[in-house]
Amino acid sequence: MGRKLLTEHINVEGIETLDVYRKHGGYRSVEKALKTMTPDEVVEEVKKSGLRGRGGAGFPTGLKWSFLAKPEGVPRYLVCNADESEPGTFKDRQLMSKLPHLLIEGMITGSYALGANTSYIYIRGELLYVLRILEKAIAEAYAAGFLGKNILGSGYDLDLYVHPGGGAYICGEETALLESLEGKRGNPRNKPPFPAVQGLYARPTVVNNVESIAAVPVIVNEGGDEYAKIGVGKSTGTKLFSACGHLNKPGIYEIELGLPVEEFIYSDEYCGGIWKGRELKAVVAGGSSVPILPKELILKTAAGENRLMTYESLSDGGFVTGTMLGSGGFIAMDETTNIVRNTWNFSRFYHHESCGQCSPCREGTGWLEKVLHRLVHGHGQMQDIDLLVSVAKQIEGNTICPLGEAAAWPVAAAVRHFRDEFEWHVTHPQEATKAGAIFPGK
Ligand code: NAI
Ligand code: SF4
Repeated sequence: MGRKLLTEHINVEGIETLDVYRKHGGYRSVEKALKTMTPDEVVEEVKKSGLRGRGGAGFPTGLKWSFLAKPEGVPRYLVCNADESEPGTFKDRQLMSKLPHLLIEGMITGSYALGANTSYIYIRGELLYVLRILEKAIAEAYAAGFLGKNILGSGYDLDLYVHPGGGAYICGEETALLESLEGKRGNPRNKPPFPAVQGLYARPTVVNNVESIAAVPVIVNEGGDEYAKIGVGKSTGTKLFSACGHLNKPGIYEIELGLPVEEFIYSDEYCGGIWKGRELKAVVAGGSSVPILPKELILKTAAGENRLMTYESLSDGGFVTGTMLGSGGFIAMDETTNIVRNTWNFSRFYHHESCGQCSPCREGTGWLEKVLHRLVHGHGQMQDIDLLVSVAKQIEGNTICPLGEAAAWPVAAAVRHFRDEFEWHVTHPQEATKAGAIFPGK
């Protein structure tokens, strides 16, 4: 049984209230940090922990914090990215609704470390009920002296606000989020400058995912070195995975990084195997933006080693035979899944969500959707399959933000690993387009 650093108390009755949360050790990191540590010492512990961004990119959190520009007299901000919208990803929603004080505690300790006196939680607009839970918890934290002026008599002040998102997937891209928070349309900005230098209101800003911030109290309480003992190599600590699709036990699991993928899928402690006694066909391991892998490659690397739930192992083989850990949205597909239709479904999403600023993404996502639509509806031609790859390549590296690549990579990977199924849609259009049609294999 792996350690649960974030979710140990998630099922305790009343844990969303300050009293119960404190009875289970809540807010210790605020007391420890504000009373016994300098801000730089807190940053140092986070660096030592090896924590990597849990939103999807996996960038080292401590390093990001140390990049924060600190010009004298200029305010700086900590912004929590709670605009969780990646298809297949639903872990932050659970953390915030069940453990709002864990996030608030992380925001206070993190804001102290960064020298921020005003911080924001930008939450997906559709999660209004979670916003209300957070607001209630924030009010409790103010009343108990954990927020506001002179927190716990330390001389440190912090105001924390929750802001509802703009209702678009792109508002979760960090610079689009900042634009939206400023009251504008959520269009991504060019990077550099990175938010650490020029972020909210052009001030130095750190944007961190909910789960990353929720890990800060544990790191401060136990020490960065202790946290780093969990996991494998540069994948330290625990990670939440939201498992969905054709599994016996879909749900949210906190795992110690390094768990074999096979164990995650098949053991009763986690997903309990594939539903209805069927075979696994493919997995999207880290939310819809990452390349799909067929069963053989998700369970073992190309070198025949067990694939592990780590940043390195999941990406072993690059995009030829590997994928990414991403946001932890783990989507399992059984043998009846139509991969072409599934790819079309994802591509519709990205086309719809493209903000339209750059042509390769605006036009390219439209092309991908159109060509896939043709294939799915029995009007495809053989050259369409290579056309998909060609469009995907022309998007890659030519856009302002990663949405373009998020649309392109999964399509290219689906063609790479399931070309015969794409060809079947061309050679057997009537059979392939029937409702519930199952690819018969080679
Ligand atoms: P990124 O790799 O561009 O950046 C990662 C972070 O590091 C950013 O905060 C960036 O500002 C910072 N950074 C990188 N280089 C820096 C430097 N030299 N100086 C200062 N800061 C620097 O990736 P991004 O855009 O943050 O995330 C993309 C990922 O997000 C995708 O791969 C996808 O997995 C995930 N995603 C997650 C969603 C969710 O709902 N959780 C939704 C959509 C995408
Ligand atoms: Fe907008 Fe797409 Fe360009 Fe991102 S890549 S800025 S979503 S058009």
